Amino acid sequence: MRVLIVGCGYVGLPLGAELVRRGHAVCGLRRSADGAGELLAAGVTPVVGDVTEPESLRALPGPFDWVVNTVSSSKGGADVYRAVYVEGTRNLIAWLTGGALQKFVHTSSTSVYGQADGGEVTEVSETEPRAETGKLLVETENLLVAAARERSFPAVVLRVAGIYGPGRGHLFQQYLRDEARISGDGIRLLNMIHRDDVVGAAIAALERGEPGRIYNVADDEPVSQLDFFRWLSVQLRKPLPPFASAEESAGRKRGVTNKRVSNRRLREELGCGLKYPTFREGYAEEMRRGS
Ligand SMILES: NC(=O)c1ccc[n+]([C@@H]2O[C@H](COP(=O)([O-])OP(=O)(O)OC[C@H]3O[C@@H](n4cnc5c(N)ncnc54)[C@H](OP(=O)(O)O)[C@@H]3O)[C@@H](O)[C@H]2O)c1
Repeated sequence: MRVLIVGCGYVGLPLGAELVRRGHAVCGLRRSADGAGELLAAGVTPVVGDVTEPESLRALPGPFDWVVNTVSSSKGGADVYRAVYVEGTRNLIAWLTGGALQKFVHTSSTSVYGQADGGEVTEVSETEPRAETGKLLVETENLLVAAARERSFPAVVLRVAGIYGPGRGHLFQQYLRDEARISGDGIRLLNMIHRDDVVGAAIAALERGEPGRIYNVADDEPVSQLDFFRWLSVQLRKPLPPFASAEESAGRKRGVTNKRVSNRRLREELGCGLKYPTFREGYAEEMRRGS
């Protein structure tokens, strides 16, 4: 297949490398040619463009059979979310409609679920996040699902949990730097997924995802923040981090969710196995690697 990875970064680059290993011809899109060397080293052809600039998409070499959109907001706020996700996706749909496209995989986020009661959420649970950024992700998903339904645009949406892996994992990194704090009473659930399993899920979605369908991409075991730190503390023989002060916790409380993201559809419908079924296998690997 001729594949384009739009936003060939932390997830996109290893995804591209794996698709190349499987015999596909892969192009990786970024806004600048600065990191072209690492793409070339992975066998991925670097291309330059910006999803917020439609003319830069039209100038790309094509056609493409499979497109995966892994652009991120680069830590930007709501204005960047609107430009990159909502408008960027609109531009991609317009550019790709009517061409050779057979599958379009979009990486959304489990932050579309605003639930805070610690209960299970599945792909049919309501998506009413309190945060403006979460609302923009929902708007982007709606564009894709509508395009699939009304215009046969072959979009598949992956709602990805907190990604960790080489050099990534926010709480883990904070803990290593002795900067971690347990918020509240520590019972809030973390939903996580190893980067390599996001790659596996994207490939499963390209191969078998049903257009218009949404799949959660999380591992098998949501874990409370406290249990996560307890496990790290045993593995690394370090004391537990301190609890955050009431003031710190109150500052973070607004918009904080607490939910148990189900991956049943990913496993049973998409037939996607996980290399790291829980944070234990995944972080044991990262500790061996010295992430
Ligand atoms: N990190 C998480 O925990 C998490 C959780 C849930 C979902 N996700 C989603 O998973 C996906 C992959 O995340 P990631 O961590 O791999 O992101 P990342 O490392 O930040 O990579 C994003 C890539 O997009 C490129 N990019 C940014 N803006 C662009 C634009 N306007 N046009 C074209 N390319 C652009 C960046 O390259 P340049 O800056 O060089 O252009 C970069 O290569 C994203 O959709 C993210 O929202 C992430």
